[in-house]
Amino acid sequence: MTNNYPLIVGVTGASGLIYAVRTLKYLLEDDRPVELVASKSTYIVWQSEQNIRMPAEPTLQEEFWREQAGVPNSGKLRCHPWQDVGANIASGSFRTQGMMIIPCSMSTLGKLAAGLSSDLLERAADVQLKEGRKLVIVPRETPFSLIHLRNLTTLAEAGARIVPAIPAWYHNPQTIEDLVDFVVARALDQLGIDCVPLKRWKEDEGSH
Ligand SMILES: Cc1cc2nc3c(=O)[nH]c(=O)nc-3n(C[C@H](O)[C@H](O)[C@H](O)COP(=O)(O)O)c2cc1C
Repeated sequence: MTNNYPLIVGVTGASGLIYAVRTLKYLLEDDRPVELVASKSTYIVWQSEQNIRMPAEPTLQEEFWREQAGVPNSGKLRCHPWQDVGANIASGSFRTQGMMIIPCSMSTLGKLAAGLSSDLLERAADVQLKEGRKLVIVPRETPFSLIHLRNLTTLAEAGARIVPAIPAWYHNPQTIEDLVDFVVARALDQLGIDCVPLKRWKEDEGSH
């Protein structure tokens, strides 16, 4: 880790909340500070896909995410209401080591590409870009429309790193978690964070 500033984790209403859960698991287990903001639609996806009600109150939501991630104590997690555009992470003066949006919906993608900040998640992401900090976007949609692809390009041109939720198969995955963890590890790689156990390509062969 380059510094001990918190990492912002943004969660949107795209399918695959397990990506966010596994990200949190590894960051908290590694004792890292995390500021989390989940969009309004995230509540609907938890309900639709898992039949789980995500609490809105920040302390209860922290307990909720910790329970989902199976990390009751370690790390530092602070959850923010999606509408709180006056939160610390809404300001560039609040120092962070960047932000990851995982999973990222096409709606949030479009708003970020247009420079809109209609909720705290979008504002925090916009701040990372304007401050020249790392913004890692893990888009989840298939197929992509031309509009999605253009928005991805716009954000890449603005400095964001795009890490699509596309797992690899060369690390011999055995479980869904193995597949998810590959994406999480590659997304965290973009931030210089190495806390996910991952069998990397030819790593065990040593350097030549
Ligand atoms: C169960 C469920 C799954 C969804 N999956 C996706 C998805 O994978 N990708 C996507 O772009 N939108 C998906 N959506 C639609 C978004 O939730 C919707 O566009 C929402 O407005 C996104 O808002 P947000 O970006 O503020 O979270 C899904 C919606 C539901 C209810």
